[in-house]
Amino acid sequence: MPALTLERLVASMGFGSRKEARALIRAGMVEMDGNVVDDPFVEFKSRPEFITVNGEEVTTVEKLYIMMDKPLDVECSHNARDHQSIYDLLPERFTAMGLQSVGRLDADSSGLILLSNQGDFIHKVESPKKGYLKKYRVELARPFTEEQKAELLKGVMLKDERRPVLARELSEEQVTAADGTVQNTVVISIGEGLYHQVRRMFAAVGNHVMTLSREAIGPVTMDTTLGVGGWRFMTEEEVASLTK
Ligand code: URA
Repeated sequence: MPALTLERLVASMGFGSRKEARALIRAGMVEMDGNVVDDPFVEFKSRPEFITVNGEEVTTVEKLYIMMDKPLDVECSHNARDHQSIYDLLPERFTAMGLQSVGRLDADSSGLILLSNQGDFIHKVESPKKGYLKKYRVELARPFTEEQKAELLKGVMLKDERRPVLARELSEEQVTAADGTVQNTVVISIGEGLYHQVRRMFAAVGNHVMTLSREAIGPVTMDTTLGVGGWRFMTEEEVASLTK
């Protein structure tokens, strides 16, 4: 393995090519423990936890595992056309490090989205073999009937899909809005991640989803302290719970 030089370290953190990282270091933009280090070829035995680049203390982690509370009207695509992208809410260098979302949420959906630059992690969490349930809270336009509930639990056939899909868990909640009206709130868990799946499932039984927010992916639940548009690194336990 080549020696871990400061140049390699800074480049691996998404601050550009090794040549660009070298220029940054030579320009005196990199500090360690409060001292400027302008020699790009300083070697490390192990990765330091943090370094300061452009005046900002940044973690040197290479493997990114991130949880975000995706706002409405934000796209999960790298090349968002009509809206902001989730990547605009994260440090730019993460994109250079190969960050990708684990599945997607529609622009008009909000809630839990996971991101990583580790292909095997993304693959595992998305894999039907693992079968992680995705849990959504939806507000419906019309009252949720017993017939609709029974149909969703039995399974519905969606247009252009080969197999019926079903609600793996379903519960209703009585939520009274500030104006006193009772909202038709349902919490539904599904095993797949088909295009617009939850909206299409409720439409198939004659209802209509007005708002949709994801609350959990398998054992990982939304950290509600993040606030809309907030993000944090996932804990080791959260990552392990999805990869074991
Ligand atoms: N189902 C949908 O309809 N939309 C999403 O964003 C996720 C699941």
